[in-house]
Amino acid sequence: MTIVRVGLGTRSYDVVIEAGLLARAAEHLKPLARGRVMAIVTDENVRPHLDVLRGALSDAGVESEAIVLPPGESTKSWAMLEHLTDRLLDLGIERGDHVVALGGGVIGDLVGFACSILKRGCGFVQVPTTLLAQVDSSVGGKTAINTRAGKNLIGAFHQPALVLIDPVVLETLPLRQVRAGYAEVVKYGLIDDADFFAWCEANGAALLAGDLALREHAIAYSVAAKARIVAEDERETRGRRALLNLGHTFGHALEAEAGFSDRLLHGEAVAAGMALAYGFSAAKGLAPQADAARVAAHLRSVGLPDGLAAASIVASGEVLVAHMLHDKKMDAGTLPFLLARGIGQSFVDTSVDLDAVAAFLNLDPR
Ligand code: GLY
Repeated sequence: MTIVRVGLGTRSYDVVIEAGLLARAAEHLKPLARGRVMAIVTDENVRPHLDVLRGALSDAGVESEAIVLPPGESTKSWAMLEHLTDRLLDLGIERGDHVVALGGGVIGDLVGFACSILKRGCGFVQVPTTLLAQVDSSVGGKTAINTRAGKNLIGAFHQPALVLIDPVVLETLPLRQVRAGYAEVVKYGLIDDADFFAWCEANGAALLAGDLALREHAIAYSVAAKARIVAEDERETRGRRALLNLGHTFGHALEAEAGFSDRLLHGEAVAAGMALAYGFSAAKGLAPQADAARVAAHLRSVGLPDGLAAASIVASGEVLVAHMLHDKKMDAGTLPFLLARGIGQSFVDTSVDLDAVAAFLNLDPR
């Protein structure tokens, strides 16, 4: 078992990572239930895990109530937020209660946001069931829904009280989803730890093939890296948390071009985005070309896209840059870019010339 503490003063919490944790979750959840009914919010795809969790709670004498929502990105909507908050109010949830979010990023983001406004803020626990949610979205307190104007534009910072991560649940996740989550694991090496990137090169294929010990190690490493960055810059105001967006600006443009659909999963867009960020850094003479080639080669070797062609994106550089201008990271007319001086040496550049980005993208094979 690994326990990572996210150090945020009175909002600090533990992230517990252990194979088989779901079946032992009551040990951690019972004290938070306070002898009351625990609400668990999940989606249709997660039912087998819901049964394990409810069974564990029931064995420990904790009564639970499940709210099962439809799966998919469209669940992060105003309509579902209204539905969910009404259901939670019907259950009599109090500020001191803890709602359990059992699922991937969609459930975590929606439940976290609902809990940030329910009775002006109640507690919640993240039990992430996708690799992407385990290594990224369940930790750090970003919560949101999507609106007509774009993804995650209405939301709040609301930290969970606890995060429980069981790598065994990934065994029922489609490989494509595991691979997409793995892109966010690689991201931590590229941000500031060249040794961890080398670890990914050596172990990524076996991890994706199902090695549980490697999965547990990668999750624990990623969560510790994220916890460190979030503790330094909880609300992304001093720049440090922005490093977690490596690959996301290029990736956002690709996702927008793909219509934010299953054609290109978020993690796949991040993979291609990271390869493009390194390629652009090398083209600008900031990073060695060999490092950019190494990043692309590793992503390609595990079946992740390493550029526009692999992501099946045919749009021009100008069209992709236009998508970037709708990114919520826009700040007073400038768009911060995550660039790199080499593997494990990323930094925020707020003076990137968008015409140069478009010209670079026009050279990327598609
Ligand atoms: N996924 C980026 C962040 O949590 O800041």
